[in-house]
Parts: sequence; C-alpha cells; structure tokens
Amino acid sequence: MVKKIEELNKKLKDYSAVEILKYFLNEYKNEAALSSSFGAEDQVLTHMMLNLDKDANIFTLDTGRLPYETYSVMDNTNLKYNIKVNVFFPKSEDVEELYKKQGINGFYESIDNRKSCCNVRKIEPLKRALKPLKIWITGLRAAQSVTRVEMPLVEWDDNFQVIKVNPLISWSEDDVWDFIKENKVPYNKLHDKGYPSIGCAPCTRAVKEGEDIRSGRWWWENPEHKECGLHAK
Ligand code: ADX
Ligand code: SF4
Repeated sequence: MVKKIEELNKKLKDYSAVEILKYFLNEYKNEAALSSSFGAEDQVLTHMMLNLDKDANIFTLDTGRLPYETYSVMDNTNLKYNIKVNVFFPKSEDVEELYKKQGINGFYESIDNRKSCCNVRKIEPLKRALKPLKIWITGLRAAQSVTRVEMPLVEWDDNFQVIKVNPLISWSEDDVWDFIKENKVPYNKLHDKGYPSIGCAPCTRAVKEGEDIRSGRWWWENPEHKECGLHAK
C-alpha cells in the first residue's frame, strides 16, 4: 500500500483539484466518497464532484449538535444540485449512554469527555460510512492548522483502513472563496459572521480578525489537542 500511495502522490502532483476528483471517480466510482461538513472547502468539492457526476457519493455526519446554519446550507445544497446528501447519524443507544455518563454538555469538563462525545457522535458513524469505501475524499487544507501542515495529497488512513484524498490540500483560503464566489456555490452563512471553521454548535465560536482559522473550534483546549479523531494520527 505504501508504494501505491507514493505512486498516486507522484502521478497526481500537478493535477488540479477537478482532475484529481475525476481520476478517483473514474477509477473507483461509488467506492469513492466525499465526507462533507458543509464547510467552504466541502462545498467547493461538492460543486466540482457533482459537475463531474451528478450521482457522486457525498455523505455527512449529523452529530445532532450542528448549528442551525449548517442545516440551512445542507438543505440549500440538496435543492440546488437536486440531490440528497447521505446522512449518518450517531446510534441512539450510544447517545443515551453518553448522556447518562456526562450529561448534555459534558464535553466542556475534560478532554476525555470531549473525545467520548466525538467518538459517539462522529467517529462511530464515520466508521460505518467508510466501511464500504476504498477512497475517502476530504476538504482538508494544509494551511488550516498546525496539525495539518504535513498532510499529503493522498495518504493511507490506518485508523479507518481507506485511502484518504485531500484534493484542496495546497489551496489557500482565498482560492476557496474565489471559487465559491465565481461559481455561486451555496455556503454556510456562519462564514460571514466570523466562523472560518464550523463544527458542532457548542464546540465552535467566531474568531477575531487575524486569529488562527481553527481557534474557534474547542477553544478551551490547546491547539495540539484540537483534532476530534476524524483526522488524528
Ligand atoms: S474536524 O475534524 O475538525 O471536524 P474540519 O471541520 O476541519 O474537521 O473538516 C475537515 C474535513 O473533515 C472536512 O472537509 C470533511 O471532509 C470532514 N468532516 C468534518 N466534519 C464532518 C462532518 N460532520 N461530516 C462529514 N465530514 C466531516
Ligand atoms: Fe460532541 Fe463537541 Fe465533538 Fe460535536 S464537536 S461531537 S458536540 S464534543
């Protein structure tokens, strides 16, 4: 697998994001899917993918704690592209158990509690979503965080046992917004209110001009802890 990943990185090095998507959609069809949080990067990839194939596989993890604005952009995206993004919800019995253990907002109390919540609400559903897939496409960018600078275009994800592809890895924030504006792509209105990175409502807040892009996510934790397990090494 290491060799295959190396070869893919070499082959796709100078491909545009659209060319990268085209390659994986052609090679893997519905065994390649985009995971979308409806953030700006995911909206760019959704637009590109659906232009290539109107039946492209796109899924989201609805943690049950998403902001109102995220549901609005989910709805607008489904309507605009005439699709129904696949939704994976957490298992109800796991959420009930979590509630018994740590209450409704226990994630503020410790990193362990926060990780348990992310496990129940995101990681377990993500495992289910990725199970039938060979290719996991994400909207990760290297410039988003200290934890992401070293991320390659294509990598083997040992946690989830899939090839992970990050077509926008070298894009800047301006590249993303230029594409959204030029192509009239629907986007989460929280981005206009100082939220560059959007996750669950209770764990996301606005950032001030010049602050780190992800400083509004789990803002009570140190930067090196700020991965929920979706993209942790
Ligand atoms: S997170 O790990 O901190 O939540 P971030 O919000 O930066 O990640 O998003 C990075 C990528 O992870 C997105 O482009 C998307 O591919 C995936 N992702 C994050 N949250 C979700 C979600 N709720 N549903 C599906 N994919 C998601
Ligand atoms: Fe729970 Fe917050 Fe993680 Fe969402 S981001 S799953 S609310 S801890």
